[in-house]
Amino acid sequence: MSQSIVILTGAGISAESGLGTFRDEDGLWAQHRIEDVATPEGFAHNPKLVHDFYNARRVQSMEAEPNAAHFALAELEAKFPGTVLIVTQNVDGLHEKAGSQNVLHMHGTLHGALCHACDHRWPAPATMAPHDPCPACGTPATRPDVVWFGEMPYGMERISNALAQADVFVSIGTSGEVYPAANFVNEADMFGAHTVELNLEPSSGVSRFAETHFGPATQVVPEWVAAELTRSN
Ligand code: OAD
Repeated sequence: MSQSIVILTGAGISAESGLGTFRDEDGLWAQHRIEDVATPEGFAHNPKLVHDFYNARRVQSMEAEPNAAHFALAELEAKFPGTVLIVTQNVDGLHEKAGSQNVLHMHGTLHGALCHACDHRWPAPATMAPHDPCPACGTPATRPDVVWFGEMPYGMERISNALAQADVFVSIGTSGEVYPAANFVNEADMFGAHTVELNLEPSSGVSRFAETHFGPATQVVPEWVAAELTRSN
């Protein structure tokens, strides 16, 4: 039977591409209040502030290049004899830029726009503003297609099914502070997957992983991918 690998990624995998993480010193949440820029209430209160925050991140991510960790995961998907699913909390699009195809954006993407009047989705322009009309219904109710605190992450049913069938679950560059992603290791473990953490330093859920490797993603991810491909071939 073919093997299945599910990989959860967080901001740490893109840190060496120059994109800031959230909870590290100088991270995004040290500079902005979550309530102001990453909640539906914050958007209702000051949509321009929220658009400006995501516009800046969109421009930064368009200029960023994938690093050796993103490329290693794309190589894994291309060469592994079973299935590889990347479930990412990142909204930056660097997995796709590196060549990964089976990517689920559970927190949405900076490169998408969403109309909160009619739910129409379309590719986001480089910058968005509060009164941009929806191309489908014309309502000036457009927002970035990202998931905010208090909203349901995307693809949860597909993720649960994948975790239930995973032989290996790998968590890369995420602090384990945000649910439901922080609980994926428990779900995968419960269904019998081998669990691996690759991170700069131990996450808050480190004790729940069977195997751990600590160091920068550009080092530990290519090393783990090379070992996994050797094991599987
Ligand atoms: P965090 O900022 O919480 O955690 C980043 C993790 O990456 C930490 O564990 C760091 O130790 C690690 N890290 C930093 N540099 C690294 C490197 N070069 N190589 C490997 N690891 C490195 O970011 P996330 O866990 O992704 O949600 O945050 C989860 C969610 O919280 C985000 O998707 C976002 C945020 O609030 C929403 O906005 C809804």
